[in-house]
Amino acid sequence: MKDSRELNSMTGDGGYNAWLSYPALPAGRQHEQYVKWCGAVQAAEENETVQAALQEWQKGIQSMLGIPAVPQPGPKGLSVAFGTFAGGNPLIRSVFGEETVRAVGPEGFAVRTCEDKNCIAVGASSPAGVLYGVFHLLRLIGSLEEIEGLDEVVNPVNGLRMINHWDNFDGSVERGYAGRSFFYENNRFRDDPERIRDYARLMSSAGINAIAINNVNVHALETLFISKYLPEVAGIADQFRRYGIKLFLSVNFAAPMHEGEVGTADPLDPGVRRWWQGKAAEVYAAIPDFGGFVVKADSENRPGPFTYGRDHADGANMLAEALEPFGGIVIWRCFVYDCKQDWRDRKTDRARAAYDHFKPLDGKFGGNVILQIKNGPMDFQVREPVSPLFGALERTNQVIEFQIAQEYTGQQRHVCYLVPQWKEVMEFNTLAKGEKSPVKHIVDGSLWGNRYSGIAAVSNTGNDRNWTGHLLAQANLYGFGRLAWNPELGAEEIAGEWIALTFGTAPGISGVISRILLDSWNIYESYTAPLGVGWMINPEHHYGPNVDGYEYSQWGTYHYADHQGIGVDRTVKTGTGYSAQYLGSNAERYDSLEECPDELLLFFHHVPYTHILHSGKTVIQHIYDTHFEGADRAAELLNAWAGLKGSIREDLYVQVENRLTEQSGHAKEWRDQINTYFYRKSGIEDAGGRTIY
Ligand code: GCU
Repeated sequence: MKDSRELNSMTGDGGYNAWLSYPALPAGRQHEQYVKWCGAVQAAEENETVQAALQEWQKGIQSMLGIPAVPQPGPKGLSVAFGTFAGGNPLIRSVFGEETVRAVGPEGFAVRTCEDKNCIAVGASSPAGVLYGVFHLLRLIGSLEEIEGLDEVVNPVNGLRMINHWDNFDGSVERGYAGRSFFYENNRFRDDPERIRDYARLMSSAGINAIAINNVNVHALETLFISKYLPEVAGIADQFRRYGIKLFLSVNFAAPMHEGEVGTADPLDPGVRRWWQGKAAEVYAAIPDFGGFVVKADSENRPGPFTYGRDHADGANMLAEALEPFGGIVIWRCFVYDCKQDWRDRKTDRARAAYDHFKPLDGKFGGNVILQIKNGPMDFQVREPVSPLFGALERTNQVIEFQIAQEYTGQQRHVCYLVPQWKEVMEFNTLAKGEKSPVKHIVDGSLWGNRYSGIAAVSNTGNDRNWTGHLLAQANLYGFGRLAWNPELGAEEIAGEWIALTFGTAPGISGVISRILLDSWNIYESYTAPLGVGWMINPEHHYGPNVDGYEYSQWGTYHYADHQGIGVDRTVKTGTGYSAQYLGSNAERYDSLEECPDELLLFFHHVPYTHILHSGKTVIQHIYDTHFEGADRAAELLNAWAGLKGSIREDLYVQVENRLTEQSGHAKEWRDQINTYFYRKSGIEDAGGRTIY
């Protein structure tokens, strides 16, 4: 049970403050240590970002320790001091020598406990670095870590740590599961600067430095964000800037035509090029630190260079040329495939598409173009192989795209902590440059020495009070930022941080919530589409079971189940040849029925239901067992959560209880539909004799 001071400081925000709730810390040795150091603060720099760091620090210290952090000019008694190396605070310069200053990158920071100078100092080369350093120190305190003896230099591993919003100007959010947009409503910019500020605080504290504020599907009015609505966009950029975040916009490739000034969008047309160059100049006049454009072109009916017989490099380079003089970048998405396929056509394989389109263009993109590649070849399924484009592009800047929004993983009505999935992807060894070529070293730029690198993800936020609909989905948002900052952090470590910062450090809480989070991906996978085959969801909205939902559709997402077997043959000899897009032993492993890992078997092979998995079970028995177990385990999540009643805030407790109740019921629906479908198809009895309909 929490003491009353703790409960008082935490009541009633409904999850709004998320991991910046700053729950009061329990009395004890650690608390005393913090109080000793944190009563005074020195951070005199005028810069708005350093001032934001100061405000955050004062808020956090007051709330966690119950004492004010009093600004104090000189080194009298103990204090915490922070600032940039060049910012004029002599204390910062005296604590950090040349070597440390050199080791701190543009967004990194150094933190040191200096007994002889009576201070804990955070120094950075940029104001954003100061802010990250202050959030770091607040995180240490919020997780009851030592702050004596600190001496470290921390730099973000990835340059671009980006969130993509799929928010539309009318206020809807494409694949949004947490209410409506907090940027727009009714084709207007919402007048809610506080919400945007708090969003920027949350993002910055998790390490995010870039946000694209509109949907990649850019409709008519959003096309005008780079013209008519530029002043409002600039207003959001001002808010972001204070927290070290650059604003990006998704743009419509056909914009020159929409504005009626140019009759074509042909990237090689001089009038089109001039139009974009003028547009870039206008945007940078309004937003001097504008990040750049995100582009979905020739993808799912969006316009693009194909209309003019040009390729993606022509299209991207044209925009890149316009942005280059201002230091802007083009993020060009690789989610390009034929979405008007005929299901009778067994040769076209959607999984192949990104590689087939972009591999031949390697080396042809401008220096300020970055390709954004989804983690898998399909579309954010609960299980897919890693996109074979990672490893195939040696001379191209690239970022990986994850989806924090749980489009295919329970839509924030089910809990599905995705950090373990993302980590698995990042650790995948592409074999592109010797034995140690994991995806994480491609996206951080170190494998090929790329100019730009990083990691992007589709946001799971909306204007729900708690930002993410499901409170536990906040862990994905926080976790994405932390992982983008440092891919070496463990999924459990990140969960632990999030839990402490959100719920406090009372004993007994962390273990339970952490277990729920860490088990959740596997549980979700167990009761939904089996063995990597994916989909089996209702068309369009993508929620809930529908085994044949996409079986006869144009979207290219099939399982080919009949009475004998199931799966997609993507082998070289008898299938679509997709497996050959991988390198070396990866290609061999996926192509081989014997070696292919169980969890991806049906992605690569069509097998009889009686095929024996490495686990020793038949495919059909695996389907039955995982679905029964998955639904049982979903119900157990609710029981585990119930054990927290009274130990965490009631408003938070109830939110999650409601969602877990829904999940538990809905998992049974998944179980019964999947099991019944395959029982009826195969006619094979469950060895366990359980009820199948
Ligand atoms: C998925 C999603 C779409 C989205 C698309 C994309 O297909 O369902 O809503 O537009 O991905 O990433 O562009």
